[in-house]
Amino acid sequence: MGISKKDIGSMPGFQVAVLLKVIGTDNLVVEIGSYRGVTARRIARAGNKVICIEPFMGEYDKSKVSKELAVTNTVKRDFIKNTKDLPITLIEDYSYNAIKNFDKEIDVLIIDGEHSYNGIKRDIEWIKFVKPCGIIAFHDYGLKQFPGIKDAVDEFITGKYVFIKNICTLKVFRNEVIDNE
Ligand SMILES: C[S@@+](CC[C@H](N)C(=O)[O-])C[C@H]1O[C@@H](n2cnc3c(N)ncnc32)[C@H](O)[C@@H]1O
Repeated sequence: MGISKKDIGSMPGFQVAVLLKVIGTDNLVVEIGSYRGVTARRIARAGNKVICIEPFMGEYDKSKVSKELAVTNTVKRDFIKNTKDLPITLIEDYSYNAIKNFDKEIDVLIIDGEHSYNGIKRDIEWIKFVKPCGIIAFHDYGLKQFPGIKDAVDEFITGKYVFIKNICTLKVFRNEVIDNE
C-alpha cells in the first residue's frame, strides 16, 4: 500500500493505527492541524468523534510557509470530501483563536498544527480541555526540520506528564501529572 500524493503532509497510517490502539473508540478527539482531513477520517471511521481545528493556511510555521503544504484551493475541497458523512466538525480557524470559544471536555488531543516552539507552547494550553487520564499526542517530535516541537515538549511535557509511547515521531502522553515529590 503506497502513500498517495495527497497523503503527503498527513500522519503516516501506521502511526494512526497504533494511536487508535491506544485510544480505542467512543472518544471525542480534537486534532489541531487537520490539513486534508486524512487522519481525522481514519480516527472517525474507527468509531470516534473528531473536532478539527484548521485554518487552511498551509503553514507549519508562519515564518516559513511550507512548499509541501502550500495553500491550494484543493486542500479545503479535499478536507470536505474526506470528512463527508463522518462525525467530524470543522472549526476553521487558528488554534489560538479557537481556544477562546472552546468549552468541551475531550478525551484525546492531537497537536499537529503550527510546528514551531511558540506554536506548540500555545497549543499546550489546550490540555486544559483534556479529561483526567485522557491522551495528548504531539506529531513530528524529533524531526530536525522542526526543532521547536522537541524543545517545547521537552520543556513543558516530558517528565511532567505520564509518558505512554513513541510511535516513531508521534509522542503520546497521558493527562496525568507526575508527582515528583
Ligand atoms: C502537518 S499538517 C496536519 C496534518 C494532519 N494532522 C493529518 O495528519 O492529516 C499541519 C496543518 O496545520 C495547520 N496549522 C498551522 N498553524 C495552525 C494553527 N495555529 N492552528 C491550527 N492549524 C494550524 C496548517 O494549515 C496545516 O494544514
